[in-house]
Amino acid sequence: MPNLYPLIRPVLFSLRAETARDLAPWALKAGLGRFLLNRKAQKPDPSNLGQNLWGLRFPNPVGLAAGGDKDAQMFDQLRRFGFGYIEVGTVTLRRQPGRPKPRLFRLDEDQAIINRMGFNSAGLDAVIKRLSAVPTRAGIVGLNLGINSDSKNAAADYEDGIRLSAGFADYLVVNVSSPNTPGLRDLQQGAVLGSLLKRLMRVREETGHQVPMLVKIAPDLKPEECRDIAKVVLDTGINGLIISNTTVRRPDLVSRHAQEAGGLSGRPLLATSTALLADMYRLTQGRLPLIGVGGIASAEDAYAQIRAGASLVQLYTALVFAGPDLVNQIKSGLAGLLQRDGFGSIAEAVGTAHAVPAQLVTPS
Ligand SMILES: Cc1cc2nc3c(=O)[nH]c(=O)nc-3n(C[C@H](O)[C@H](O)[C@H](O)COP(=O)(O)O)c2cc1C
Repeated sequence: MPNLYPLIRPVLFSLRAETARDLAPWALKAGLGRFLLNRKAQKPDPSNLGQNLWGLRFPNPVGLAAGGDKDAQMFDQLRRFGFGYIEVGTVTLRRQPGRPKPRLFRLDEDQAIINRMGFNSAGLDAVIKRLSAVPTRAGIVGLNLGINSDSKNAAADYEDGIRLSAGFADYLVVNVSSPNTPGLRDLQQGAVLGSLLKRLMRVREETGHQVPMLVKIAPDLKPEECRDIAKVVLDTGINGLIISNTTVRRPDLVSRHAQEAGGLSGRPLLATSTALLADMYRLTQGRLPLIGVGGIASAEDAYAQIRAGASLVQLYTALVFAGPDLVNQIKSGLAGLLQRDGFGSIAEAVGTAHAVPAQLVTPS
């Protein structure tokens, strides 16, 4: 069956962005995802795309980024698009509505999105219930944790989040980089981040679950902030970094929504996120796995991020523009690019864009 997404996209794009987005769980549960997927392109994952990280077997490196399934409503259906893993969230400790609508804008001409959702969340209890209702071990599911907008104590929100969820996710993400919760990004400052992460690593120990803990950072960091973050991450033993969240910058956009407040994702973010990834790979000396995200829309984009230092990649915005077949296209393209360049696996290609590739220490 050919790719049918171009046929329904005009209908979806005639709706308000958030209305179209709200239809997704319903449509996927009704089987639309299967209908949209090109069955011929659905093959088992090429063996050169698989890798072990943090004791988890990733069948391929292409994941769904946070925001695509904030409330764990459809991760099982989304997995069938061919993702190697899904990141649910951001979830907040208590249910909250997020910021007033409209808060989601498609920038069609720029292949981009601006969102100021502000962590609309069903709350951690509801999300954990949904995660435990589905046999998650059929695939890797990460959980991205945030804080409530009225939180008086950010560290306590994350601590409770880890205590409650450590047994229900394959990895956890401390999200300190969304631009739509006042003060959140300030948690990225070296000393603040250092004491926060030390506390959170201790809480993880107390849970008895050795769930990998990752930190997601913003693309708008200054070089000295990047250096501080790298040091803190290595000192605290955090297991990985996700690079990057959306940007508050507005690089050369043409769409009418270009000046909306919020975080920009998609095509215009690719160069920045790839450059930051390369910087953080150098600064952390390849000593922990990095997840590259921001503007990936093709196998070439994913490959560039892997060569810049990413062991895994994620995407969200490009899926809205290209449809579910994109995941299979990226996977088969990536397998071909690895072969073309003589790499037997993703792990062999990680960081090879650098003159002297750092040695990735096998993570525990
Ligand atoms: C509508 C929307 C909602 C998002 N919500 C979250 C979120 O809740 N938590 C988070 O860490 N990132 C969130 N993101 C950021 C994405 O996870 C990703 O970092 C960013 O969009 C860059 O990737 P992309 O260009 O492939 O979309 C959101 C992005 C979009 C477009």
